[in-house]
Amino acid sequence: MLDKINALEAEAKGEIKAAGDSKALDDLRTKYLGRKGLVTELLGTIASLPPEDKPRLGKELNALKTRLDETLRSRQTELSRSPVIPKDFADLTLPGFSPPSGSKHPLTKTIDDICSIFLGMGFKVVEGPEIETEFYNFEALNIALDHPSRDAFDTFYIKNQYLLRSHTSPVQVRFMETEKPPFKIIVPGRVYRPDAVDASHSFMFHQVEGLVVGDGVTFADLKGALSVFLRGYFGADVKVRFRPHYFPFTEPSAEVDVSCFICGGKGCSVCGRKGWLEILGCGMVHPNVFKAVKYNPEKVTGFAFGMGVERIAMLKYGINDMRLFFENDMRFLEQFR
Ligand code: DAH
Repeated sequence: MLDKINALEAEAKGEIKAAGDSKALDDLRTKYLGRKGLVTELLGTIASLPPEDKPRLGKELNALKTRLDETLRSRQTELSRSPVIPKDFADLTLPGFSPPSGSKHPLTKTIDDICSIFLGMGFKVVEGPEIETEFYNFEALNIALDHPSRDAFDTFYIKNQYLLRSHTSPVQVRFMETEKPPFKIIVPGRVYRPDAVDASHSFMFHQVEGLVVGDGVTFADLKGALSVFLRGYFGADVKVRFRPHYFPFTEPSAEVDVSCFICGGKGCSVCGRKGWLEILGCGMVHPNVFKAVKYNPEKVTGFAFGMGVERIAMLKYGINDMRLFFENDMRFLEQFR
């Protein structure tokens, strides 16, 4: 019996020393000292021993219990002093993995940046439908059904006078029909034209339209607002130039250029050696447009402008192919964080 006790003690102590964590120690405590443990089991056999051996072996076994209990405790202390790092341990002091985060599409960013400059001048953002009628897309904008300028706004027709708007200008008409001057609005949105897709054409693209109407609004106000916008967007030292042009819905009309911000106006491949970049169209609202929305052209004046978002983004970020905006290649999109 004594041999058994000694062997059990040696085995138990060996296992306790080798235990790597408190879970293993708990299991060993159960294995040896638990209700059905090995030491407890031996204690149970004492009843069947000769009476003269009982007290001595009983004492031995109780002492073994105490010693194993102590060994278990001291191993526990040892373990808690130099913790063994479990497999799933997480070191909270390491820099974390940041989950991939999205970012604004470059066109959305461009629209937001354009609008925010106009918001700073007191404009309000307005939107309109992408499915339009011939009346809003053309007639009310002084583009008669047989007007040759309708070719310039080549259009996707649906049916029954419906079409996909070919510019954001119809929103001018919709807004004026329901609101009274004075007001300053900016209108971002998608427009559609049946163009073959290439590096500088797309059947769907974006425009930002502007309209300011009030008492005594002049061409000087137009020049002022657009110059503030263009210098705010392209840089404080770009030069701004107004060239006479023709649009049916404005009179007089102009196209606006900024000095090339790549070469500073000297001439380079981006500006086609001209030193100037064409950015937008504008003009004073045509009296016929006011008549179409029942405003009195003798009483109010206004100016309007329109610009292509893709073109502006391409110039600003040096993008040479419009298709990149619509392909959703992450290597492209991730550059606009
Ligand atoms: N709607 C014109 C286009 O799509 C752009 C434009 C030019 C808008 C002059 C205007 C404007 O409001 O005054 O080409």
